[in-house]
Parts: sequence; structure tokens; C-alpha cells
Amino acid sequence: MKVKDILEKACHENILTKDEIKLLLMAEGDDRDLLFKTADRVRKEHVGDEVFLRGLIEFSSYCKNDCFYCGLRRSNRQAQRYRMQEDEIVEVAKRAYQMGYRTVVLQSGEDMYYNKDSLCSIIRKIKSSVDVAITLSIGERSYDEYKAFKDAGADRFLMRFETSNEKLYRKYHPGMSFENRIECLKWIKNLGYELGTGFLIGLPGQTIDDLAQDILLVKELDADMIGIGPFIPHPQTPLKDAEEGSVDLTLKSIAILRLLIPDANIPATTALGTLDPLGRQKGLMCGANIVMPNVNDLKYKLKYELYPGKICINEDATKCRGCIESIIVSLGRKVGHGKGQSRHYKRAA
Ligand code: SAM
Ligand code: SF4
Ligand code: FES
Repeated sequence: MKVKDILEKACHENILTKDEIKLLLMAEGDDRDLLFKTADRVRKEHVGDEVFLRGLIEFSSYCKNDCFYCGLRRSNRQAQRYRMQEDEIVEVAKRAYQMGYRTVVLQSGEDMYYNKDSLCSIIRKIKSSVDVAITLSIGERSYDEYKAFKDAGADRFLMRFETSNEKLYRKYHPGMSFENRIECLKWIKNLGYELGTGFLIGLPGQTIDDLAQDILLVKELDADMIGIGPFIPHPQTPLKDAEEGSVDLTLKSIAILRLLIPDANIPATTALGTLDPLGRQKGLMCGANIVMPNVNDLKYKLKYELYPGKICINEDATKCRGCIESIIVSLGRKVGHGKGQSRHYKRAA
């Protein structure tokens, strides 16, 4: 089958076989251009020209897990750890609102210092202070906790399954279970959150076949938001000598998922912008419609080191906001107004 025919099928049926996805992932030259152009057109048709900004608040760098790729893993004794207190988190959320953000993303390592009650209290305080959507990105919890966070006012949840290859998952996530992660994602969806999930591109040992399977799993989980980023080796982790993930495969995965879930929200990730100075721009031109600038103080930004060389690490939140707005405008797009709920979620509701 030719790439052109596969793209036509994707646009009409929103589903592809694994082999068809693999052909798209390997597309080069004119075929690759056509994939990106088609994804950009579908993005425009289904979610428009608005790019929504999310204010990212990384509130704790402690983590009980030991993911092989991540600088926050518990075995990294050199990692700098911090925890923001409740009022401080609420203050940063208010500041984000004043800067124009209408969604805040509360992200952390898996840090059980914040229990059900403290997280619910943070969510409630933010919700009663400012009119923002709250996205949680705090990892695996119990059904009961996810339910309590939703009842307290959380709107969305981001958690990547990282890789759909269970053997690789086991290897890189000691003490964790792929089955449990998927179970959590299903609970989150059933509880009525807008569900965000996705995967890492370029984990050592990952094949094109695995990536195609990852794409199909995002489709199967019926994600409302899709987070895909290249793996970047961190010097204080077991994967320090591994090769970084491919920007090209990241862009192609974004483009393919735009065709398979046309009305989803898809960010151009910070990791993409870290590996390629124009990475976020390229992501926005092949299917992405979201950017997530960090709104934290510099003193915390520097300590939340998932991988080295993170962009914006020395820039204050106001400067990042201005910078990203000019990037959006330079691409002929507009900064989104309002909370920017996923249209996929709206349609399903
Ligand atoms: N602890 C929560 C979790 O794992 O879902 C949320 C925070 S975690 C730092 C957010 C994401 O960072 C992970 O899903 C992972 O894909 C990404 N990440 C971690 N280390 C990375 C690395 N070295 N390169 C690229 N992305 C990385
Ligand atoms: Fe912890 Fe998330 Fe990093 Fe894994 S990816 S070590 S769960 S912060
Ligand atoms: Fe942070 Fe450009 S978005 S400096």
C-alpha cells in the first residue's frame, strides 16, 4: 500500500493496522512531507488554529519509583529534592491565572507525602481561588484516591504508559507493573477525567514494531490528550550511555495520532524542544495544538531534572509566556482562550 492510500484510509476511518503505522513511521522524503501536511490539515479542521497553553507546576521532586530513565528516580542520590507546601502551590496557581493560564498542571514524582486529604485540599483551594481547569500528573494511586481528587474538582489526568512492550516496561520500571498502570488509566477514564496518556520514544531496545503498538494502545485507551516525547539520557541514571530518542519518530508519532484521534489535544513537548531548538515549532506544524510552559520559580525549575539540558530552565515564567506566544504567532496560529477542554472528551460526553 502506498503512503498516500494509507493516509486517505486514516483520514476516513481513523484506524490503521500495525503494518500501515510502521510504513508511516518509516516514511521519507515526499511521503514524510505528505504525512506532516495531512496531519496539519486534520489538526486545523478538527481543533482549529488555537494553541492552548498549560501552566506546569512541578510541586515535588521526590519519587518512590526507580524508572531507569528518569533523573528523579529514588536511587539518584545526587538529585536535588524539594516539596512545595500547600499554600505555595495555590499561590503559584493564582499567579499562573494572572498570567493568562486557564489550565494548571500539577506534576510531581510519586510522592506519598501528599496524601488523599492534602491533595484534595490543594485542589479545592485552587478551584475556589481561580477559574482554572486542573490537570494532575502524579502517577499511580488507588481508585479511591482518584475518585476523591475528581470529586474535589480535578478535571484531567496525565499518565503515560511509557511503553506498551511489557518486557521493556518490566526492565525499566523495577517494582512496577504494566498491568496496574493500564488499570489506573482505565479507572481514570471511567471516573470521568479527561484522560491523557502516551509514551517515550527511543527507550533502548524499543523497535518500530513497539512504537506502532504504542500508537495503537493510545487509540485503544481512547485518550483525550496525547503526550509523546523523546527519551533523553540522564547522566545519573542506568541509561546514561544510551542514545537519545529520535525527533523524527516523535514528530511522525504525533502526526499519526492526530490522524487516528483527530480531535484530541496533543502537546509539543518540552523534551522535543530540548533535543531540537525548533522541536516545539515542528511539533505544532505536524499535528500538535498544546504547549506546557513551566510557571514555577527558578529555584524549583532547576531541581526538577528529569533529563539534562531542559529548555527554559533559566527563564522566568513571564518571559516563557511571552516567548511561547511569539512562537505561536510566528507560525500563523493564535493563543487559545479559555480552558481548552479536549474536543474528543466533549464529543464523548
Ligand atoms: N511521576 C509521574 C509519572 O511518572 O507519571 C509524573 C511525572 S514524570 C517526571 C512525567 C514524565 O516524564 C514521564 O511520564 C516520563 O515519560 C517523562 N520522563 C522522565 N524521564 C525522562 C527522560 N529521561 N527523558 C524524557 N522524558 C522523561
Ligand atoms: Fe518517578 Fe515519574 Fe520519574 Fe518514574 S518517571 S522516576 S514515576 S517521576
Ligand atoms: Fe521558555 Fe521560550 S518558552 S524561553
